[in-house]
Amino acid sequence: MDKLLIEGGVPLRGEAGISGAKNAALPILCAALLAREPLTLTNVPKLNDVGTMLKLLAQMGVKVSRDGATVTLDAAELNNPVAPYELVKTMRASILVLGPLTARAGEARVSLPGGCAIGARPVDQHIKGLTAMGAEVNVEHGYVHAKVTRLKGARLFTDMVTVTGTENLMMAACLADGETVIENAAREPEVVDLANCLVSMGAQISGAGSDVIRIRGVDRLHGTTHRIMPDRIETGTYLCAAAASGGAVRLTGTSTSYLDAVIDKLMDAGCEIQGERDAINLKAPQQLQAVSLRTSPYPAFPTDMQAQFMALNTIADGTAIIRETIFENRFMHAVELIRLGANIKIDGNTAVVKGVAKLDGATVMATDLRASASLVIAGLVAQGETLIERIYHLDRGYERLEQKLLALGARVRRVK
Ligand code: EPZ
Repeated sequence: MDKLLIEGGVPLRGEAGISGAKNAALPILCAALLAREPLTLTNVPKLNDVGTMLKLLAQMGVKVSRDGATVTLDAAELNNPVAPYELVKTMRASILVLGPLTARAGEARVSLPGGCAIGARPVDQHIKGLTAMGAEVNVEHGYVHAKVTRLKGARLFTDMVTVTGTENLMMAACLADGETVIENAAREPEVVDLANCLVSMGAQISGAGSDVIRIRGVDRLHGTTHRIMPDRIETGTYLCAAAASGGAVRLTGTSTSYLDAVIDKLMDAGCEIQGERDAINLKAPQQLQAVSLRTSPYPAFPTDMQAQFMALNTIADGTAIIRETIFENRFMHAVELIRLGANIKIDGNTAVVKGVAKLDGATVMATDLRASASLVIAGLVAQGETLIERIYHLDRGYERLEQKLLALGARVRRVK
């Protein structure tokens, strides 16, 4: 099991490039299932989760070829509409094949993703929507079985805002007979990136980015080439790392456009931020101010940035109240931050973070993707050495993390 050894106390300075968005790439890879012609994607990040998804699609019969950040998928021969437990258990986003498979093949057998560290992660809304579109869906032996001759357009309403639920149902509706309306739809930029790709494949979609998405079903989709949008959460993570370490960085291949809520909070904390067309510049203040936040669906503060901001608040001046409203158990990083000397009190879905003068390096353990990022940020700030265990979590969502941190002057290395 790899570990990450960080020598803290070095402000991040310099330039780093941001990769394509994991949470746009994963649904868009699944969109290939909807067409019998090749889908070519550029700016695809090199991440373990992307590798897992490509493996999952290949065992269904999709021809996959990859050349650096360019991936081509040809789903002409789809011969096994099954997502097996062995692959799904390592990546819950595998549920994103359910909608496309049901629409394209008229059947799907997808292992229930099961929970993960941050919560139960049910998929009842995905099932409710497909059922409303006429599919016969049942759950047995840990698998979701869906069967239908052809999905029918329907008026769908999700009980809560669900990102992959919206994406699954939007993909399924592309090949349904008639119009589908998804109300209470997720507005995340990754949903819009998926919609843009589907439209360029011949789908008829309007309203993506709002909470009502209309999809007029067509008989078939064709191939296309689509560039994956930049990863706004990777961007926010490096901005937080630069802010917490008291540095100044320039992030390229990204933009401020999808990070208003995060940028607002970084400016409240005292950072100077300047956006360019294809880059963001951040300069940290001498002393960070504590900033309270409440996670909510886009465009409000993203839950995927909560852990990173908690790390920043541990050494800010003042007390921050952090409320996590999306997942029921997304404070696992708090106990690890406390091992580094942070002053954090957890009460249900609220964390009270009282800034301390400094953190002290220690051995800590990563529990999930964004919690790991939070520990990296804290390790960059802590005096002395911090050893982060179980960093396979990081490899799922951050491309070439050490290389990018080294380029920014961090003293970091991977140890076996
Ligand atoms: C997506 O997960 C992201 N993953 C998550 O990013 C992100 O944290 C989350 O959206 C929220 O923004 C991908 O896009 C691959 P949800 P998703 O369905 O779609 C409940 C990361 O770090 N719910 O929007 O699984 C659910 O339990 C990952 O990159 C149901 O109850 O999240 C949660 O409380 C972590 N029933 C809330 O809704 C359902 O059928 C929002 O979940 C679906 C969801």
